Amino acid sequence: MAPRKPPSRKGSMADVPKDLLDQINRLEDLFIVPAEKLKEITNHFVKELEKGLTVEGGSIPMNVTWCMAFPDGYETGTYLALDMGGTNLRVCEITLLEEKGEFDIIQSKYRMPEELKTGTADELWNYVADCLQQFIEYHHEGEELGQMPLGFTFSYPATQEYIDHGILQRWTKGFDIDGVEGKDVVPPFEAALAERKLPIKLTALVNDTTGTMIASAYTDTEMKIGCIFGTGCNAAYMEDCGSIPKLAHMNLDPSLPMAINCEYGAFDNEHVVLPRTPYDIIIDKESPRPGQQAFEKMIAGLYLGEIFRLVLLDLHQNPDCKIFEGQDVSKLKKAYSLDAGFLSAIEEDPFENLSETLDLITHKLSLTPSKPELELIRRLAELIGTRAARLSACGVAAICKKKNWATCHVGADGSVFNKYPHFKIRGAQALKEILDWPAGKGKGRGDPVEILPAEDGSGVGAALIAALTLKRAVAGQTAGIKDPEALLKSPMAKFGVKE
Ligand code: GLC
Repeated sequence: MAPRKPPSRKGSMADVPKDLLDQINRLEDLFIVPAEKLKEITNHFVKELEKGLTVEGGSIPMNVTWCMAFPDGYETGTYLALDMGGTNLRVCEITLLEEKGEFDIIQSKYRMPEELKTGTADELWNYVADCLQQFIEYHHEGEELGQMPLGFTFSYPATQEYIDHGILQRWTKGFDIDGVEGKDVVPPFEAALAERKLPIKLTALVNDTTGTMIASAYTDTEMKIGCIFGTGCNAAYMEDCGSIPKLAHMNLDPSLPMAINCEYGAFDNEHVVLPRTPYDIIIDKESPRPGQQAFEKMIAGLYLGEIFRLVLLDLHQNPDCKIFEGQDVSKLKKAYSLDAGFLSAIEEDPFENLSETLDLITHKLSLTPSKPELELIRRLAELIGTRAARLSACGVAAICKKKNWATCHVGADGSVFNKYPHFKIRGAQALKEILDWPAGKGKGRGDPVEILPAEDGSGVGAALIAALTLKRAVAGQTAGIKDPEALLKSPMAKFGVKE
């Protein structure tokens, strides 16, 4: 058995020469976000969330989702859920059971080929429909299925006039497929299903954050916000219709709840308040959608490794310090070659001499940093990871402040939340600083606003939202459902009836 790793390292800058120390100090100035700044960001954030709900709108889309209820735990039926995430495509079949809050799930994962993200719309929809077909053939060979309701988790900003339709505003998270932006994504998707004669009816188009909120609320009634800290970052919460000026023309009962997909990755696209570094500016310029997702580009998993790479490359080229002097930096020059997992691994190195970090850098970049350079590398990873966690807390705090919620549970999911070391505790500490909690709070467990690992939002959450849609259609509450008649005539309507 390998020897147990020491739990943490103290680290020391004692042997770091002056030129490198100067650089470390400069990086600290750039990346550390003090409490006062977090508060300023949060206050501006609250105003922007409000602006997004108005008719004029702002840069945060605050998309109305037509998910208009929390589950009560007694939803039933069998649903398909499709999750088109960044890396994988997942198909699930979820049976919501009679027992409160219980469900069965079977699922298959398919790799999302990298080429698909920059390919054509046809290739995308054909691939997605092929995966669904494979799933049905594998699990239901020869069965007569009737029609199965589908919750489709499509985790990109979409304006929804109806729960079962959505116009993609713009791609995020590095996707760049022509001919989809500005259009309804449902018809081409349904056409691909029809071509294959699949017995599936898209019942709800769901954002991963809304799914996360609903899935988490299925088992925890204190849950009020669903968040993703992953490849992208975003949150959803339940608003009341009366506080959504851009819905006023619909004359909905002002007390009805409406889930809002904030799409707050777009916060501060106008660059008013976020402390952007020169590296953040490069990330934006070189991305497929410059000027978009300003907040997301500073904190989401897709960008953390790239920020780190850009800083190291800059320090190599900087005549004042020249790290990796005389070495071949060709691998370091490759954009997006380092991911958030790489940064996590550096932050997880428990050894005083940073031997694991040395291995990682040697392996991945064919570079041999000196001991002081390793100290700088580690500090840089901490700075980038800490900034991400602290800025992330601003979004959650802003929703709580906007809604005057002093306490609540927040369901969170995503690779950064689940895997990045210290992310949770750094986020909790930042919430404490922003929301002025007393000493002893800010540790996560038992905090007034507690960010907890979520239930499976894009699987169970999407199924629940499909269930809730059928349930309210049957109850005659048909706002935001494109063709309620058809839904009520379909065999799926039985899932909306309480027995
Ligand atoms: C991006 C998407 C958003 C999604 C988030 C997390 O911000 O635009 O829809 O919720 O990533 O996956």
